[in-house]
Amino acid sequence: MIVKTLSGSYGSGVFMVDDKKQFRQMMKMAELTNARYNIIIQECIEDSLGKDLRVLVVNGKVVGCMMRQSVDGDFRANITRGGEAIPYQIDEDIEWIGGECSRLLNLDIAGVDLLFSNGSYVICEVNSAPGFKGMEQYTKINVAEQMVDFIQKKVGTK
Ligand SMILES: Nc1ncnc2c1ncn2[C@@H]1O[C@H](COP(=O)(O)OP(=O)(O)OP(=O)(O)O)[C@@H](O)[C@H]1O
Ligand SMILES: [Mg+2]
Repeated sequence: MIVKTLSGSYGSGVFMVDDKKQFRQMMKMAELTNARYNIIIQECIEDSLGKDLRVLVVNGKVVGCMMRQSVDGDFRANITRGGEAIPYQIDEDIEWIGGECSRLLNLDIAGVDLLFSNGSYVICEVNSAPGFKGMEQYTKINVAEQMVDFIQKKVGTK
């Protein structure tokens, strides 16, 4: 399974646990460090190891999507830890999941990470302050322009 700290970015707080013994050791260490520790435990989505999708949502609409892939054999696909990406076709499911994530979490701007599972997608996490340098670099979408445009409309200067 996958164990995550609540804070920690760029994949640095995300660990893969292979068996019960390793999990017990990890929990013991967490407990000794801080008796009131918080963690997230997720099923390990095996179809998606080493790759995922980053979906960028602005004002409820998916404006960009890329498939990220790790290049060093690691299960984490974050570009910030050395992964690469290619543009990915936005289908109906991606459009719907992206829109619903931002609506339910009340986010004007959201970075939704999706994992591949059984020919479909599952949600990995939703970022409320997503970086977009990688998205601009790999998809050539002008994300900053979309964001400024949305903000101007929202505050009524456009
Ligand atoms: N349950 C899972 N199964 C398979 N791979 C996973 C799973 N959870 C995370 N990963 C991989 O690890 C990467 C990092 O995980 P995640 O997006 O949750 O953390 P993060 O980007 O470090 O978080 P944050 O944005 O909160 O700093 C994901 O992009 C994905 O490639
Ligand atoms: Mg992430």
